[in-house]
Amino acid sequence: MTRRSFAQVSGAALALGLARRLRASEKYSSFDGQLAIALEARAAYKTIGGQTVQVMTYNGLMPGPLIELRSGDVLKVRFTNSLGEPTNLHFHGLHVSPGGNSDNPFTMVESGATADYEIRIPSDHLSGTFWYHPHLHGSTAKQVFSGLSGLIVIRGQLDAIPEIAEAAETSLILKDFTFDGSGSIPQASLMERMQGREGRILTLNGEVSPMIAIQQAGLLRCRVLNASASRYYRLHVEEHPMGLIATDGGALPRLDWREDILLVPGQRVEFLIQGNRNPGAYRIVSLPYNRGATGMRVGREANGTLLLGQLTYSGLAERVVPAPDRLLDVEFLPHPNRPNRIFQLSQGMMMSFDINGRTFDANRIDTAVQLGTVEDWDLVNSGQMDHPFHVHTNPFQLVSSDGLTEPAWRDVVNVPRRGRQRIRTRFSDFIGKTVYHCHILDHEDLGMMGTLSVG
Ligand code: CU
Ligand code: CU
Ligand code: CU
Repeated sequence: MTRRSFAQVSGAALALGLARRLRASEKYSSFDGQLAIALEARAAYKTIGGQTVQVMTYNGLMPGPLIELRSGDVLKVRFTNSLGEPTNLHFHGLHVSPGGNSDNPFTMVESGATADYEIRIPSDHLSGTFWYHPHLHGSTAKQVFSGLSGLIVIRGQLDAIPEIAEAAETSLILKDFTFDGSGSIPQASLMERMQGREGRILTLNGEVSPMIAIQQAGLLRCRVLNASASRYYRLHVEEHPMGLIATDGGALPRLDWREDILLVPGQRVEFLIQGNRNPGAYRIVSLPYNRGATGMRVGREANGTLLLGQLTYSGLAERVVPAPDRLLDVEFLPHPNRPNRIFQLSQGMMMSFDINGRTFDANRIDTAVQLGTVEDWDLVNSGQMDHPFHVHTNPFQLVSSDGLTEPAWRDVVNVPRRGRQRIRTRFSDFIGKTVYHCHILDHEDLGMMGTLSVG
């Protein structure tokens, strides 16, 4: 059976309500350098927290199917839009062409239309955790909030480290929802759009407080994605430190033990957990974090800690796998030889959000750069709310105030309220026009996005 017909069979089976039994069909893996799949964006019913609700899905799944690739692969997606409104696809974090029918944020797929995407992954692409979601200006927050997102895994060097290869693997996709009494997602209010809409129900992999299995004495590799439109998470696992091995764009040079990890919208991390406590269940929670939005509170938790899931011991590992210390070398980008660019993120009058005083205009070039050059960008936030800043196509590194570069690849960074960040990036391999923006998707839809032309 070809991959394409496999995807179609899965779709038909899902329509018969067999989604729960077809776990294997939730992952599409490339073979021989290729993966051709059909993705359909459509509404579907799901049970979340005991309530029957209507969400937006890819192929009836929420989160959407996992797409697993290797560097050098070609991904072909026959995309059908059955949402009843225009949408498109963005391949968040991939270092691929931003033009044509590749990762082009200016594409629009009309309601009822089909579009063929072709994503060519360079042969030197870093292994890591990426994702896909809609990116149509004005509709992005609503469609992502309604459930549209899926993981993309690029396998490679990180997966070849023996201890990591031996670890069990799971993904943790964080997504909040709000439903009304009839199970529909209500329209966001003006205040919610200003602050960035947050849902009252927290889901992990589309479920409320699911169990995540870990073997006693085993090593568990978790790929985490914040697929929420606006919500921040400060992840913590009871009695289990998280051994950070990768940020958005790929591996770190060394494993880094953490008690908590801040994940702003769009960000991914990978970490290892050791099953070395007494067998039982341990809470996976989000600790309080103040991003400067005042309107939304979830549940009745007095101290602001929110339950996401339970790490649950199940079975015994065949042998104890230690966590590796050394991972992969990270190339440091050289110092740029041009002055820094300044990006002032601000909230204007009358529900507008802007960058350097201008709201988004797809027909204007805001930033023109030269292929192959390195630049430092100063992201300045003088407002009252944090803004998670995302750049398409090329990952970046953080430069601290004392000039040191963090040895990690990222494509989203939090710019704290009344704070700043310096990022260093190289415009490699691809010319064309793309975008940078706030990943609080309501802010993006309200104008906090600019165009970047690489020539
Ligand atoms: Cu994104
Ligand atoms: Cu923002
Ligand atoms: Cu984007």
